[in-house]
Amino acid sequence: MVKKIDVLFYFFVSCIGMNAMAQKTSVRKHLNFDAGWKFSLGNAADPAKDFNFGIGNILSKSGETAGTATAVKFNDAGWAPVSLPHDWVVGLPFKYVKNDDIDSHGYKPVGALFPENSIGWYRKSFTVTRADSGGRIALQFDGIYRDSKVWVNGYYIGGHFSGYNGVSFDITDFVHFGQPNIVVVRADATQSEGWFYEGAGIYRHAWLNIYNNVHIKTEGGLYVNSTINGNTSQINIETTVENKAINNSDATVYSYVTDRKGKIVATGKELPLALAINESKTIKEQLTLRDPHLWSLDDPYLYRAVSIVKYGGRVCDSVNVRFGIRTFKFDSDHGFFLNGVPLKVKGVSCHQDHAGVGSALPDHLQYYRIGLLKEMGVNAYRTTHNPPTPELLDACDSLGMVVMDETRLLTSGKEYEQQFRDLILRDRNHASIFMWSIGNEEYVTQRTDIGKRIAQNQILLQQQLDPSRTSTYAANVGNTYHGVNEVIPVRGFNYNLFAIDAYHKEHPGQPVIGTEVASTVTTRSIYVKDTVHAYVPDYDVTYPSWASTAESWWKITVAREWFMGGFAWTGFDYRGEPTPYRWPNINSHFGIMDMCGFPKNVYYYYQSWWTDKDVLHIAPHWNWKGKEGQPIKVWVNTNADNVELFLNGKSLGKKDMERNGHLVWDVNYQPGKLKAIAYKKGKKLVSEVETTEPAYRVILSPSKTTLIADGGDASVVNVSLVDKKGREVPDALNLVHFEINGDAQIIGVGNGDPSSHEADQCLPGKWQRSLFGGKAQIIIKAGSKAGSVVLTATADGLKTATVEIKQVI
Ligand code: GAL
Repeated sequence: MVKKIDVLFYFFVSCIGMNAMAQKTSVRKHLNFDAGWKFSLGNAADPAKDFNFGIGNILSKSGETAGTATAVKFNDAGWAPVSLPHDWVVGLPFKYVKNDDIDSHGYKPVGALFPENSIGWYRKSFTVTRADSGGRIALQFDGIYRDSKVWVNGYYIGGHFSGYNGVSFDITDFVHFGQPNIVVVRADATQSEGWFYEGAGIYRHAWLNIYNNVHIKTEGGLYVNSTINGNTSQINIETTVENKAINNSDATVYSYVTDRKGKIVATGKELPLALAINESKTIKEQLTLRDPHLWSLDDPYLYRAVSIVKYGGRVCDSVNVRFGIRTFKFDSDHGFFLNGVPLKVKGVSCHQDHAGVGSALPDHLQYYRIGLLKEMGVNAYRTTHNPPTPELLDACDSLGMVVMDETRLLTSGKEYEQQFRDLILRDRNHASIFMWSIGNEEYVTQRTDIGKRIAQNQILLQQQLDPSRTSTYAANVGNTYHGVNEVIPVRGFNYNLFAIDAYHKEHPGQPVIGTEVASTVTTRSIYVKDTVHAYVPDYDVTYPSWASTAESWWKITVAREWFMGGFAWTGFDYRGEPTPYRWPNINSHFGIMDMCGFPKNVYYYYQSWWTDKDVLHIAPHWNWKGKEGQPIKVWVNTNADNVELFLNGKSLGKKDMERNGHLVWDVNYQPGKLKAIAYKKGKKLVSEVETTEPAYRVILSPSKTTLIADGGDASVVNVSLVDKKGREVPDALNLVHFEINGDAQIIGVGNGDPSSHEADQCLPGKWQRSLFGGKAQIIIKAGSKAGSVVLTATADGLKTATVEIKQVI
């Protein structure tokens, strides 16, 4: 399928009756390459189980395949059919091993200790029509974890070291046009790159790109940025064209800008471009736009820039990108400004995995997660500690969220410098990105002269490739200047906030941001410390030695105009880094939401002070059978002025709400109703929690009930139980079974329990998950046929739930 967005764009372009020349912009094809793969584990220790890889001498001659799985005729009939994105680790069982790397990756049996699970082989057959011969054919992988090697028709076409950057291979010379071709990928996850769950496999999209010999370069070929002067914006468009033809080529290039509806609002001149064989050149144009519609968090308006290349008078390539017009200012006295307006960074750091699916998220989940964060009041996202998937940035562009885009390692060695370069070239058009991060907590390097030299190299590279932005570095040091901090334009503090005043005083000209803060640990729905199950109470009270409560970092932040704000660690729980406990705990407790995106109580602290919504939230729930007469700590999070709490109609006292604080009552438990009445600028707010009766019925709540039948769309279906009066049962732990009928599939289940060893992925017909704190989640992926899909959830002794999802073409 052609990427949706492009289809829409061409539709708009033709609808508005543009001139004939511009209508030919579809000469380039960007085809989704996710379907129809076969997969098998190989073996990192036993060549025979690795399909003879390593003993076949396949690099001795070009095209030599020597009885390995790289051979065209290799029989992959026994391999499993899969579609991308695909993470082979999420379905593996949990396994306890006393090893820090295994612990930090969430006790999944992958890596050097588990050679049988650390090599993944993929094969796919594809055709390219004869009509497409004569130009260039490229395979694009947005992310393969990791150390991948790729063959086409038995020919080795290249490898890619990183599990986080994308890579594109020009495969033109190896293609049989009009006949089947075989692509083979071997991914090797023996060595890990991070200290958190990383998954493994082709876990992002793949694409087949087809374009002419004279074309806009794949990596960073179209770069757009803008400046604003009064009511006029200058849009700078740089188009880099490459000539892969067998002769010198005289091309022309011009660009234009359309508004969101596709109407052309600025057009450049057609400029000549003479290209020798294999030469690339960049044409720079400045287009002027009066009264630009600015991109902002509440109104994330996106324009589109289009560059057209003509050769021999005909359009031979066209690329279009979305971009936003906005200004960023980093001020050492007054903090960060978006479009000239001060903006405190209310940010979260996040890893990329999610319940059920590991690191292989359908695009809808990116929008779902960013939507949840926006709802909480988050305005900034840090892509820790690696390049994100492009769809995450699309979601931030579209929904209005600024992004700190982070590269994996702070080093200027060849491969890592290339990674940072590729990251900037790939991402620099995104409206949402407000700064780059050159690295995180490089404790060996950050205080040294080597660190300073590496940082200087990376900063200069960034300024060369994207002069429209700046960089920071996430330093877990206090008042330390020597090393990276000497050269970094924006000083990033990871924790160590006790030192920010002294640092600011000594370096008043350097803007300061909290690149990582908080690391508060909480377990949703658990209110007492439980070292057996490895749970921490769901109040804002527990944090490791380097960290703090949410309330403490936020109060420090609001008291300092010059401190730009920060990124709380983390928006969502993620697999790995079990803290403060280890096994049986298999995922982190750092999330403000759990692995499924269900809010913990600290969520309401942030929401109170990060939004203007009327927030009045009582914790915990009120189902404490057996605890009658015992004291329970009741926390109220609100942005009202005062709150009065009642138990079964009796007042427990009225309290004034301190700004950026929370309220606590000690309440002796009696079943019934706990009710809070608050006043916010004279407006009455009411909230209550009630002791429920036993669960009676299963409830399914889908994020959407219409799916596009494109084999990739998804719906997130939340599961809960209600009693006979329709009240959600907050402590339910029932096992729920799921069945799906129709052309769609369940691809993962979760419940947010950080110590659950239940399978995230089940065999067909056997899907199930226990609830944790009354909730679970299923993720459904669309098939390719229009029609009705019915999901059924059953639990012993309870009324069944069904939900119908319409699938449309
Ligand atoms: C930081 C680190 C994060 C995570 C966090 C846990 O030091 O940058 O990746 O490990 O600590 O608190």
